Order: sequence, then C-alpha cells, then structure tokens
Amino acid sequence: MSQKNQTLGEFIIENQASFKYTTGELSRLINSIRLAAKVVNHEVNKAGLVDIIGKVGETNIQGEDQQKLDVYANNKFIQTLINRNIVCGIASEEEDNFVSINSQDENHQNKYVVLIDPLDGSSNIDVNVSVGTIFSVYRRITPVGTPVQIEDFLQEGNKQVAAGYVIYGTSTMLVYTTGYGVNGFTLNPAIGTFYLSHPNMKYSEDGTIYSINEGNYIHFPQGIKNYIKYCQMEEGDRPYTSRYIGSLVSDFHRNMIKGGIYIYPQTSQNPNGKLRLLYECNPMAFLAEQAGGKASNGFQRIMDIQPTQLHQRVPFICGSKNMVEKAEEFMRNA
Ligand code: AHG
Ligand code: MN
Ligand code: MN
Repeated sequence: MSQKNQTLGEFIIENQASFKYTTGELSRLINSIRLAAKVVNHEVNKAGLVDIIGKVGETNIQGEDQQKLDVYANNKFIQTLINRNIVCGIASEEEDNFVSINSQDENHQNKYVVLIDPLDGSSNIDVNVSVGTIFSVYRRITPVGTPVQIEDFLQEGNKQVAAGYVIYGTSTMLVYTTGYGVNGFTLNPAIGTFYLSHPNMKYSEDGTIYSINEGNYIHFPQGIKNYIKYCQMEEGDRPYTSRYIGSLVSDFHRNMIKGGIYIYPQTSQNPNGKLRLLYECNPMAFLAEQAGGKASNGFQRIMDIQPTQLHQRVPFICGSKNMVEKAEEFMRNA
C-alpha cells in the first residue's frame, strides 16, 4: 500500500512482489536509474556555472575535462548500469549502436535491456529551462547466456516491462511505471532521497492544454492544421490554452497533471516527425496509457508499431484520451 511519505527505495521493495517476474532484477534496475538520476541532477543543477567552472572542451579546476551535459548524462546512465551488472544491453539516443554487456563472472545472464534518451530537451539547458531523462525497459527475447541482438531492442512498445522519466525541473522528480499505474517521486535535495509525492497519477479524460511547435504550422498535415483550428475555436471549454516548452518530458509532465495533448506531427520536411519511437515515444506512450491517456501516430497506437531501426522517428500525439481521439478523427477525415 503506497503512502505519502514513502521513499522510492521503500516503494520499490514493497511493490517488487506484485511484479510478474519477481527476481529482484527489475527492482535493482530501477534503483540504478534512481542513483544515476541523482548524479545527473547534481550536474544539471550546476549548468549555469559553466562560465565559471569551464566550458565544454576545457579542463576544469580539478583537471577534469568538461563534457556536454547530454554526453555526461549518457555516460553516467550507461556506466551505472554496466558497473552494477544489471542489464545485458543498452541502447541510447546518443550512441549509434546498442551496447552489449558481458560481465566477466556471469556470461550475459541478465534478462533486461534498457533504452534511454539521457538528456531530453537539451537545447533548454543553456536557458535554465527544465530538461529530463527518459528510459524504457524490455525483457530480452534472445536466449540468456548469449550476446544481445538488435531484435532485443526492436520490440513493440506493448512489450515494455517498465518505463519512466526524470524531470530536472523546479524540483527533480522520477516518474515511472511497471505496468501497475504511474507513480511520481520528488527528490529532497538536502538528503538525496526521493519521496512518493504523486501516487497513482492520472490524466483527466478531457483537457484544455495543447502543446505543439506552431512555428512549423505551414508544414503540418491538413488534419493537424484542422485540429489546431478546432483547439482555437470558441465553443464549450475552448479555446484551449497553448503551452510548449520544447522538452518532451516537461510538456508531457504538465499535460499529465493538468490535462492536455502533446503533438509532434510529421512535417513536409520530416515525414516521420522528429521524436524517436524507441527512446521517447514508446516510454511516454506506456506512461500515458498507464495514466488513463492515449498515444498515437495519428492512425495507430504507438505501442503497436513494429520498430525496424534503433533510431527511427514517428509522428506523436499523446495525452488526455478524448483529446487524442479527437485529433485522430481530424487526421482520418482530412
Ligand atoms: P532531445 O533534446 O533529446 O534531442 O529532444 C528534443 C525533442 C523533445 O524533447 C522536444 O519536445 C522536441 O525535441 C522539440 O523540438 P522542436 O524544437 O522542433 O519543437
Ligand atoms: Mn529527446
Ligand atoms: Mn536527448
């Protein structure tokens, strides 16, 4: 039973038993992500000091090389997972190929692969706006004891066993699901502990916020143009309000709490949109559905798309159920 002052560590232990394959491996994995998140959070918080302690490519006062934050976050998450010998493979938005992990004592014995967007919204770092980390977890489909293969990563989103994000915002939160609803934990930075602050997060069925980069309007498909006009029409609870941060994690987080829709459609220049199916859309889709929302490419459920490439992109419409269904209706009828 979740209670409000519960720590993430306590919550993980308490909920381990309800998980289908209860070996503790998934719990250890979430624990590692919690640890890496704290380290990355510490670094993200210092981003504004970059002119004081050194720029990318320079050496700081301790003689360490300064790294771009997305490279730093990528290395931190990958190293934490490798060092703790928890997963058999990792794919990252920042790496061309997946990483196969073979620990010396146990040959490829781990069952899970992780896919991550280590720093989402990285263009917002320089201007002190919230960024995030997104992660997604699958059971491998190739046999344990052998090196992981590309097909372990190219699984439909509906096969995810866990997904979540960290938001480095006005406060730092870790929000995740293992298929039993969505729970959010807020970091108390004074003592470095995450506390359950948002138990059982739910999208409202309807919302009043739409989030889309309207600067690309002329390049949008007609269905999306029509839907935007619908959002702006005076009728019922419309016009909706427009909010767009440009960090998927932050836009998603706000819409889940307040009720809304996030859209990154295909454009005339980018026929598959911008967002990555494996690192961004599938984990967010899993969270959205677990919170009572929906995620679609306009015509099909995101989590039913068979991936063909690690870095493949997909149009993304995600949020409150009725809003997503309305946008799909506009896409169908355009
Ligand atoms: P990333 O920083 O991982 O490359 O992701 C940025 C993504 C996403 O977070 C955001 O919603 C979107 O790009 C913003 O794109 P536009 O600037 O084209 O609106
Ligand atoms: Mn991203
Ligand atoms: Mn990124």
